[in-house]
Amino acid sequence: MMKGKLITFEGIDGSGKTTIAKILHSKIEKSIFTTEPTDSWLGKSVKKALEEKRDAITIAFLFLADRNEHIKEIKKWLNEGKIVICDRFIDSTFAYQKEHIKMDGVEEWLDWLHKPFFIKPDITFLLVIEPRKAIERIKDRKLIVYEDEKFLEKVQENYLEIAKKEKDRIVIIDAEKSKEEVVEECYKILRARNII
Ligand code: TMP
Repeated sequence: MMKGKLITFEGIDGSGKTTIAKILHSKIEKSIFTTEPTDSWLGKSVKKALEEKRDAITIAFLFLADRNEHIKEIKKWLNEGKIVICDRFIDSTFAYQKEHIKMDGVEEWLDWLHKPFFIKPDITFLLVIEPRKAIERIKDRKLIVYEDEKFLEKVQENYLEIAKKEKDRIVIIDAEKSKEEVVEECYKILRARNII
């Protein structure tokens, strides 16, 4: 049993999860903020593969390699009793790569690949927003392969499907509310569940 807690944030590009996760990190003592893709060379290689529009399988392997190393670090923090706040984690792979890879049985394949190193978050906040509004929020960013409205619609559907199957872990949050309201809502839920 690990002493710390793992909180993850999920949602489509432009859902505002990074902003919310960072604000919560500043409000929660003993918390660590971390992201996937990570900022290690492995994470940078994922971003490079996305920019170069490498094929979907290559990209999936890179995300998993980055995650395997990241989880080692996360476990260390959890053993030290830290509250780890992670901007994207395993659900991102199931939501995005499922859409990108387009192969029968892709979920089983991803499950199997994660088996040797998987850890389950204590709670996951899924920030839901209309894809059109999300795209509007990020229109000034450098676009990568996944920032297309139709694609993000599918990704969000995938996320909602996962949330239906894992009701205890995944909490759906209306990301169209103000930043302050979203932070407040997440904070209250964390308190109510004794995570912080
Ligand atoms: P970011 O914008 O949150 O840094 O994430 C970069 C992109 O990578 C974003 O479009 C979501 C995507 N992604 C996946 O497709 N699979 C994954 O497992 C992760 C962590 C991110």
